Amino acid sequence: MSYKKCTAIVLAAGKGKRMNSTIQKQYLPIMDKPVLYYSLKAFEESFIEDIIIVTSEDEIGYIKENIVKKYNFSKVLKTVAGGRERYHSVAAGLEAVSKDTGYVFIHDSARPFIDGKLLERAYETVSEYHTAVAAMPVKDTIKVADDKGIVTDTPDRSTLYIIQTPQVFDHFMIKEAYRRLIEDERKGVVFNRPVTDDAMVMERYGSLPVKLYEGSYRNIKITTKEDMLTANAIATYF
Ligand code: CTP
Ligand code: MG
Repeated sequence: MSYKKCTAIVLAAGKGKRMNSTIQKQYLPIMDKPVLYYSLKAFEESFIEDIIIVTSEDEIGYIKENIVKKYNFSKVLKTVAGGRERYHSVAAGLEAVSKDTGYVFIHDSARPFIDGKLLERAYETVSEYHTAVAAMPVKDTIKVADDKGIVTDTPDRSTLYIIQTPQVFDHFMIKEAYRRLIEDERKGVVFNRPVTDDAMVMERYGSLPVKLYEGSYRNIKITTKEDMLTANAIATYF
């Protein structure tokens, strides 16, 4: 089986509203380095050949100077402007991926703790299934409730997973799926729920099933203040 070129899209165009801090969460420090630094470092040290950073229009200069240049991330090919929703940012990132890329690793910069082994698992999975989405079994019991807080269902826990990133896909398949999503949005198609990850786009517009691979319980997403405590503990003790 021949190796295919891998490109990472690192998403950092969010506003971090749930963090409620003056500094945006992608720049908050973990052991003196910004959250965004960690995933870029992991990709830089891996088999990934190039990296596209997606940020807000007015932070492109800041990222180039204070992240890419400062930490010598030589694989960062482009830093491009994202959009209003995560999926707009992904679509913008996909437009910047070079033609010869085989697999695209779409990653939330809010997940700093990815490592080489996880990336290898992603590669093995995507090369067999054309899709690969990081997941871990849920630890808690999950319930479905209605808008009044009344429980309507308790799904069998053994079928439930928390979903992480990187979410990895065949380049042209994911590009086509996103094009169709953006086209539908332009036509005014109403989605029954918010599009919060790339797998949803594949599930809706792709032609192949989405395959999960083993993520990691360390691969947390930094969303609220408490997560920074966990992040600092992970960075210190693991
Ligand atoms: N993201 C993005 N463009 C957007 C929204 C989100 O690139 N329009 C990125 C974020 O920077 C983050 C990842 O997608 O790395 C996951 O999103 P989330 O955790 O929801 O981050 P935010 O949208 O920034 O946070 P919040 O929802 O609390 O505002
Ligand atoms: Mg968000």
